[in-house]
Amino acid sequence: MASTGQAGFTVWLTGLSGAGKTTIGHAVAAELERRGLHVEVLDGDIVRTHLSKGLGFSHEDRDTNIERIGWVASRLTRHGAAVVVAAISPYDGTRKRVRALVEEQGPFVEVWVKAPVEECARRDVKGLYAKAFAGEITQFTGVDDPYEEPEDAEIVADTVSRSPEESVAFVLSELERLGVVAVGAPTAG
Ligand code: ADX
Repeated sequence: MASTGQAGFTVWLTGLSGAGKTTIGHAVAAELERRGLHVEVLDGDIVRTHLSKGLGFSHEDRDTNIERIGWVASRLTRHGAAVVVAAISPYDGTRKRVRALVEEQGPFVEVWVKAPVEECARRDVKGLYAKAFAGEITQFTGVDDPYEEPEDAEIVADTVSRSPEESVAFVLSELERLGVVAVGAPTAG
């Protein structure tokens, strides 16, 4: 396969449902694309309709889901893509395993999209927290299933103290500071 001439990397957004992973991930991806990079977004909700269709939310199924995403991210990273993953990925050991897999091919940047469960439940964009608190769905991360806080995150993006736009700008500036992304021209607006 022809090289893109671009060094690939993976930006892995982890955090609770409703913390802002998808919003930040898509906006960061759009900006990287605008800067001319080849970008692919792997979002947990979407992956679960294709690659991970049929998997549930047991520890084992979540690990299978995350390891599949990690494997795809590593293959894309190998071919020069800027890969943006948005998945709860609640287990630190599993995140460490996908990090090791991706790092065989290029940089792996873990971004903890950080908001407490009370705030995610208050936002409750999908109405799932209300169902989880009512016991209508079980094994819901942060309610009756664990979220292991990241030990290795290169970037901690607190989405309580920042607007979505500020979080996106923060993550991009951190990617530049880490040297993963070339310093870009200031964006308009
Ligand atoms: S992960 O744990 O395997 O990383 P993933 O990010 O793919 O999770 O999917 C999480 C999404 O599935 C949530 O954003 C939410 O919309 C939905 N979901 C449905 N049931 C659950 C549950 N029990 N726990 C967490 N998310 C759930």
